Amino acid sequence: MYIAHIVSNVINDAMSAHTIAVAQLKGGEGKTTTTGALGAALAGEGYRVLMIDADPQTNLTHGLGFVDPEGATLYEALHGRVTFEQIRLAGNGYDLIPASLSLSGAEVELSSRMGRERLLDGLLRPLKGSYDFILIDCPPSIGLLTLNALATSDYVLVPMQTERHSLKGLQEIHRVIELVQAHDINAGLALLGIVLVKYDRRKILHRDIYETIREEYPGKMFDITIRTNIALAEAQIVGQDIFAYQPESNGAQDYTQLMREVLDRIENR
Ligand SMILES: Nc1ncnc2c1ncn2[C@@H]1O[C@H](COP(=O)(O)OP(=O)(O)OP(=O)(O)O)[C@@H](O)[C@H]1O
Ligand SMILES: [Mg+2]
Repeated sequence: MYIAHIVSNVINDAMSAHTIAVAQLKGGEGKTTTTGALGAALAGEGYRVLMIDADPQTNLTHGLGFVDPEGATLYEALHGRVTFEQIRLAGNGYDLIPASLSLSGAEVELSSRMGRERLLDGLLRPLKGSYDFILIDCPPSIGLLTLNALATSDYVLVPMQTERHSLKGLQEIHRVIELVQAHDINAGLALLGIVLVKYDRRKILHRDIYETIREEYPGKMFDITIRTNIALAEAQIVGQDIFAYQPESNGAQDYTQLMREVLDRIENR
């Protein structure tokens, strides 16, 4: 019985989706763009992908074309009124759990709940066997929503703009990961990597920032940097992922390369 239990756990783990929180405590650093593009890239490779919009700004939901999703969203699910099976939406090869503005109230409303940082984990568990990758787009703060994302994730992927002030946000998210590990919220959480966005290799400042982070976080910097590419912004405005909008764009190429590095890192872990 005991052996059977262990075996079934091993099988479940082997079949369990790699769950990646895309997080940064600063706003406008490329979290949503990275979640949507990486998720679409993985789906394009044939992986089963679920993306979760955990940000009340709803940028991922709208940016991927899920305009005014009718009915329940992550908000109602966190309150226990619906399951993820009931609210997930099918996109261009991937699924999405949509967000709504009401999610901004969840932080306060759920703050006194028992196990409040594991609500998302509880909702996701039944689905983890049905996907290869689950990507969670976090809001730009360390509230209950980000904590829920970190509690259920194997990895954190940190995008950051190539600017000096972004380094501070990187230190903060690194500290939060250590706290989540130390307080047994999720001892297995690992920093998957850091990716610089809106990178211009002709700029000395940008090359300096790349080198600084590479030295401070050995092995964590992705080789690929994401170039500034207007198609990435346009795609979100028209509500398409970058591969549907402009598959030949620099943005699509850079995120394809990021996907390859992500797959390498996860396979070699
Ligand atoms: N490589 C890029 N080239 C051009 N524009 C980009 C690029 N990456 C992101 N953007 C644009 O920059 C803005 C901020 O990006 P994004 O929304 O992904 O950041 P965020 O970290 O999710 O922000 P927030 O913290 O508000 O959720 C968006 O308008 C997006 O379209
Ligand atoms: Mg965002």
